[in-house]
Amino acid sequence: MAEEVPSTDIITLTRHVLNDQLRLGSAATGDLTLLLTAIQVTSKFIATNVRKARLINLIGMAGETNVQGEDQKKLDVLSNDIMVNALRASGKTAVLVSEELEDAIIIEEKQRGKYCVVFDPLDGSSNIDAGVNIGTIFGIYRVQGDSTGSVEDVLRPGSEMVAAGYTMYGSSANLVMSTGSGVNGYTLDASLGEFILTHPNITIPKRGKIYSFNEGNSMYFHPPVVNYLKSIKYPSPPKTPYSARYIGSMVADVHRTLLYGGIFGYPDDKKSKSGKLRLLYEAFPMAFLTEQAGGVATTGTKRILDILPTQIHERCPVFLGSKDDVNDLLKFYSDSA
Ligand code: AHG
Ligand code: MN
Ligand code: MN
Ligand code: MN
Repeated sequence: MAEEVPSTDIITLTRHVLNDQLRLGSAATGDLTLLLTAIQVTSKFIATNVRKARLINLIGMAGETNVQGEDQKKLDVLSNDIMVNALRASGKTAVLVSEELEDAIIIEEKQRGKYCVVFDPLDGSSNIDAGVNIGTIFGIYRVQGDSTGSVEDVLRPGSEMVAAGYTMYGSSANLVMSTGSGVNGYTLDASLGEFILTHPNITIPKRGKIYSFNEGNSMYFHPPVVNYLKSIKYPSPPKTPYSARYIGSMVADVHRTLLYGGIFGYPDDKKSKSGKLRLLYEAFPMAFLTEQAGGVATTGTKRILDILPTQIHERCPVFLGSKDDVNDLLKFYSDSA
């Protein structure tokens, strides 16, 4: 059999996003395309640093604590700086919110654009030193009306985001994104320096066989979560138990959930009243992608994307994944109400 000739017509992320823009015609100004281009460049830049981290002394602590009281790693700080610099220079942003910065950055007039970007520059810090998958998460809002940029522009429900995505730095760098009409995944071809469309139209299986929780916190979990986990670990025959997979990098756990299905959860519990994950730059973008891929994202009592934030660093409980799996969990919540 003849060997297959490599394709000469590859779809890069830029080409794909531009196509979208052309489809929208005059409604699209191209600003969002340019912003997304700036974001993909930051992902390439962070990816190369993640690859070299062990060799260029980028492993370990930066010596500072962020507003969440977490010790910052050198890669947290570097990734944050990369993103702030690129997003400001893009000329397309008005407000930036980062996990690593206490206050929102309001972009000065001469570089100001119409979009607000909320981001977790480096997700999965605890996995950096072991070389386990980490990532970057982002969500994009448009400023309200003719606002010149204020924190109110991002204290908006996640359903108002115009785009959201993440890049996972793993065996390859994968950028997964939605502009509100489905979810697409791109893989970085390092030799080309381009993200190539490899996962068009990602849809979460209706039901999965995997659950992904930090069960080390079980003694703090509330009854609906305890009982749900029990139901999938000790099912009545002929059902068989679910498999456990928990990486501890939200990006990697959500990536697997989007592709394989199942449920990812970081509940609120007796110790962490609002859970651990941050609403604006962790829960919202991942909930946006999950819904766009046909799944469900909830706090256990309400749809995540409907929450109206009051503070940029607030936290919220997160359960997301396959429709049937998340709905099973929700039954335990409604039964306990
Ligand atoms: P970050 O590294 O950006 O601070 O985020 C850490 C988050 C998230 O990636 C992950 O899902 C979760 O923390 C893991 O928490 P536990 O170690 O408590 O399981
Ligand atoms: Mn952190
Ligand atoms: Mn994170
Ligand atoms: Mn982080």
